[in-house]
Amino acid sequence: VRIPLGDRTYDVVVGRSLIAGLPTLLPSTARRVAVVTQRAIPIADPVVSALGDRHVVRIDIGNGEANKSLTTVEHVTRAFAEAGLTRDDVVVGVGGGMVTDVAGFAAAVWHRGIAVVHVATTLLAMVDAAIGGKTGVNLPEGKNLVGAFWQPHGVLCDPDALDTLPPRERRSGDGEMAKYHFLAGDDLDAMALDERVARCVEIKAAFVAGDEREGSDRALLNYGHTLAHALEIATDHALTHGEAVGIGLVYAAELAALLGRVDRSRVEEHRAVVGGSYDLPTTIPAGVDDDRLVDLIGRDKKARDGLTFVLDGPRGIEVVPDIAPAAVRDALAAVRSWPSR
Ligand SMILES: NC(=O)c1ccc[n+]([C@@H]2O[C@H](COP(=O)([O-])OP(=O)(O)OC[C@H]3O[C@@H](n4cnc5c(N)ncnc54)[C@H](O)[C@@H]3O)[C@@H](O)[C@H]2O)c1
Ligand SMILES: [Zn+2]
Repeated sequence: VRIPLGDRTYDVVVGRSLIAGLPTLLPSTARRVAVVTQRAIPIADPVVSALGDRHVVRIDIGNGEANKSLTTVEHVTRAFAEAGLTRDDVVVGVGGGMVTDVAGFAAAVWHRGIAVVHVATTLLAMVDAAIGGKTGVNLPEGKNLVGAFWQPHGVLCDPDALDTLPPRERRSGDGEMAKYHFLAGDDLDAMALDERVARCVEIKAAFVAGDEREGSDRALLNYGHTLAHALEIATDHALTHGEAVGIGLVYAAELAALLGRVDRSRVEEHRAVVGGSYDLPTTIPAGVDDDRLVDLIGRDKKARDGLTFVLDGPRGIEVVPDIAPAAVRDALAAVRSWPSR
């Protein structure tokens, strides 16, 4: 799948047993390769082997959001310095979104920017995080606050890598796939996994190509995410990102129906796809307080004018600002009244 971005155009290669072909994605100038990965990612070993007799340095970073930090970026870039990585060399990020965000950001700032190639190893990274050029790390004050737009030189998605992925991590990607289902209006759930990953990449590519720096339509990729971010915080991450996005999608449909933007059949369709095909939750967990959710929604960094949601409607899915908190609460009550699954 080509991501058309002028002189930053690159390919996302999706298919099985492709690791051996990784060198073809690297810039021809690269003599040294810094592989940024994590110890627990089995496919990192075959990636290093595939790099053959190039000068390869492997840098393992820690797990989890606490390690998606400037401290880790310092560790990684100091390892680049030790390896003598020059502007002509390349960084290869092998991992999920955590690794590709850190590796991408380290590449963006090393010598003011060198090439990075991602080997995505989680479903979420394949269909979302590794493509599109958003990179960055967290601060104690908030997620992804320090970052840069830095498009990769190429991306490799081999669904074989997912065989070792824990089921819970898999669900994070399922939530994004359910989102693409509605954004593109495609019957994604009817496709085989490789085909579905490639189609999701194509859908994201179209949004990124049309609006690289999220001035307009790229924001639609946040469909289902406004409530999802609030739910992740309110449940202290007891819900995975994908589970929260699943609930956020059916909630967005319910809110759109309450505002007269879509009819009930569209809400039922959301429930059937999210809860059925993707087997994700569709109801808000008990014990999560509505006041807290409304407060968190108002603080979402994407919110500009009062409560803003991405909602379906007669013109398709669009950003809808200035939604009355009462409507947001009514939709929460409506979702809570559904039979739980
Ligand atoms: N840049 C973007 O556009 C973008 C978009 C969405 C999400 N993100 C970021 O992505 C991150 C989440 O990414 P994620 O869901 O991929 O989680 P992750 O990168 O934290 O990976 C989840 C866990 O799975 C392990 N793992 C990865 N691949 C594996 C494999 N093949 N087999 C076994 N274990 C494996 C990892 O070591 C980790 O413990 C968040 O930090 C989020 O902010 C970025
Ligand atoms: Zn997401």
